[in-house]
Amino acid sequence: MLAESYLRSGKVRDLYSINDGRMVLVASDRISAFDVVLPSTIPDKGRVLTGLSRFWFAETASIMRNHLLDTDPSVLADTLRAEIRAAGHEPPDLGPLDAIRGRIMICRPASVIPIEAVVRGYLAGSGWKEYRERGTVCGIRLPAGLRESDRLPEPIFTPATKAEQGEHDQNITFDGMIDHLAAWRRGMTGFSGPFAEAIRDRALRLYRYGAAVAERKGILLADTKFEFGLAMTGDPDAPFGPPEERIAPISRVGRRPEPIPPGPPESIMILIDEVMTPDSSRFWDAATYAPDGPQASFDKQFVRDWLEAQRWDKTAPGPELPPDVIEGTRARYVEAFERITGASFTRYLEEDVIAR
Ligand SMILES: Nc1ncnc2c1ncn2[C@@H]1O[C@H](COP(=O)(O)OP(=O)(O)OP(=O)(O)O)[C@@H](O)[C@H]1O
Ligand SMILES: [Mg+2]
Repeated sequence: MLAESYLRSGKVRDLYSINDGRMVLVASDRISAFDVVLPSTIPDKGRVLTGLSRFWFAETASIMRNHLLDTDPSVLADTLRAEIRAAGHEPPDLGPLDAIRGRIMICRPASVIPIEAVVRGYLAGSGWKEYRERGTVCGIRLPAGLRESDRLPEPIFTPATKAEQGEHDQNITFDGMIDHLAAWRRGMTGFSGPFAEAIRDRALRLYRYGAAVAERKGILLADTKFEFGLAMTGDPDAPFGPPEERIAPISRVGRRPEPIPPGPPESIMILIDEVMTPDSSRFWDAATYAPDGPQASFDKQFVRDWLEAQRWDKTAPGPELPPDVIEGTRARYVEAFERITGASFTRYLEEDVIAR
């Protein structure tokens, strides 16, 4: 049903556009480890990621506007039927929508800001590596004597450039980010400083909020990555306007989204993609947290441990996962969903709601 409007695929999500200008993100059950998409899938993993993102989009709506417009698959079916009717035909029976229920987000399309807005509350991964070598993370000087996985005195914003496919993201300094933004939108010269500050400010606020919620559920949000985009407002006086500001329709029915004009002030910044999921974050179990070494990640560690024990050089294609590893990984993803949202995953599957 969506085949005509397919745009492209990332490692996990497939993107489609609908004729009224909206976009559909479908989260698959694909899993990647060590930057390789494995041949096996984890049943319902895409639903866990979508459900958690839905939860966070609702929770953080007062901090920042986001791209989520709808999650009901029947909205897609209705749109499609209306289009077929408008073309003078009687729409066919579209069949069951169960395959995509719980794993779609109908979104406002945005021009993706080419920055991974990473926030770290703990010292891990590439942050720990840079700290060990230079005492800094993305150029930010940290107190001496920190150990791997230590909690930082306060969360820090550590941006990275969005790498091309197959490449690793590159950590950059805040000044490097300003230059990167200026190069991305040349019309933005003189504006990229405040723009970068707005990104840092929103990312830190979102992290602080999310980390506090997760911590109450016994999960440490060691670090996470946000993506932001520019969406058109039609209002030249509202560069990053307040959340209640209305957004003008992006394009007319029957047309592809129009290209977004060059940066602010015609656009507003919105939160896009997925938010504080196991795929975009390091979740640690607070109960087993022990700094001065690496921590087991809450979800993927199970897969990584099994992969480490295989004879595999970490290049594509990876090995097929055995059933018990698939089941164990699924259980961890579901546990992350249930602990953070406090909702029942079974209910999410059956009723498409996030509730106890
Ligand atoms: N509202 C939006 N408008 C436009 N693009 C979006 C929006 N929300 C998310 N995206 C993009 O959709 C893609 C989601 O797919 P996925 O998460 O699988 O990608 P990925 O493997 O992380 O890789 P990459 O970001 O390099 O494409 C991302 O490229 C993301 O930037
Ligand atoms: Mg992604």
